[in-house]
Amino acid sequence: MEPVKNTTGSKILATFQTPEREVNIESRLQLETYIASADHHAVEAADRREVLSRLAQPQKTLPAKYFYDARGSELFEEICGLPEYYPTRTEAWILDRYAGEIASATGLCELVELGSGSSTKTRALLDSYCNLGGALRYSPIDVSRTILTDSARQLLRDYPTLRVRGAIATYDHALASLPPTDLPSRMLVFLGSSLGNLTPGECDRLFDQVQGFLDAGEYFLLGVDLHKSTAQLEAAYNDSRGVTAEFNLNVLAHLNRRFGANFDRANFEHWAFYNEGDRQIELHLRCLRGHEVTIGDRSITFTEGETIRTEISRKFDVEAVWQQLDRHDLEPINVWRDPQNWFASILSRRRVR
Ligand code: AVJ
Repeated sequence: MEPVKNTTGSKILATFQTPEREVNIESRLQLETYIASADHHAVEAADRREVLSRLAQPQKTLPAKYFYDARGSELFEEICGLPEYYPTRTEAWILDRYAGEIASATGLCELVELGSGSSTKTRALLDSYCNLGGALRYSPIDVSRTILTDSARQLLRDYPTLRVRGAIATYDHALASLPPTDLPSRMLVFLGSSLGNLTPGECDRLFDQVQGFLDAGEYFLLGVDLHKSTAQLEAAYNDSRGVTAEFNLNVLAHLNRRFGANFDRANFEHWAFYNEGDRQIELHLRCLRGHEVTIGDRSITFTEGETIRTEISRKFDVEAVWQQLDRHDLEPINVWRDPQNWFASILSRRRVR
């Protein structure tokens, strides 16, 4: 059945949901934007400055968060279902199989998820925490309002006892300002190997923020994509249907809308490869001809063949991540993997000192 759109653009299932059920959903949903409106212009200006300065470097780069406007989040969902893109289905397998063990290791918890997207894989966890009995609480955090609200409403329909407290925020803002829980504990969930988007230095900083966010005894569940053959990795980021190429090029439309730029996507092509030395997939947009792009009152020169690196996706080694967590007072408790050793889910606990 096709969901119908109401005037605000959110999906309502008017044809078969009773009004009582819909009201009940709204009463269990709380949404916040973690950028105070007074700060909004300052944040926009800082984002614009960051983009301009990154595009002024010899190797132009962009932060990965600009992939995830409404269209980009949709394209990412499509990537997750591609035959070549193994990470999503592998992590889903691990969570489906071991969510029960994870829930019994932590006991009753509020789930707080960084970069929740469609929250599809989280359902395995919600099922297990639901089975523990007690309150079911979920705090998804995402930069895309559309995907956050659509998936929160869908979850509330499917889990009648669930309460959702969603935050439209970046990792930084969420980890600095999310309020505490009234449940006995929390588990911060960071799935999909999104950690791979961060440089080693940024990764250290994120772990510092996680350490500061969690109270002693609270949990951190981290999903990481592991090293494997270059052929398998490169296939995952160069799918035959060109969805990853579209996802990569969409960043230009986002910059145009967000910062008043005039990128023409016809001047760029998708390029992805595994950098074996740095153990990271790199996504680039390669410039096909020399031209100028303006962003507001600024102008940027592009030469033929040069690239904007739009993403790194680092591939990990469980032992190294385990040790890094430990150095940040996140005591590793257990790790679950798929039989092929493609992906790992690592559970750690904020050390009591
Ligand atoms: C969401 C960052 C985990 O690195 O595999 C997928 C994003 N980029 N295809 C990844 C992505 C191109 C994805 N992460």
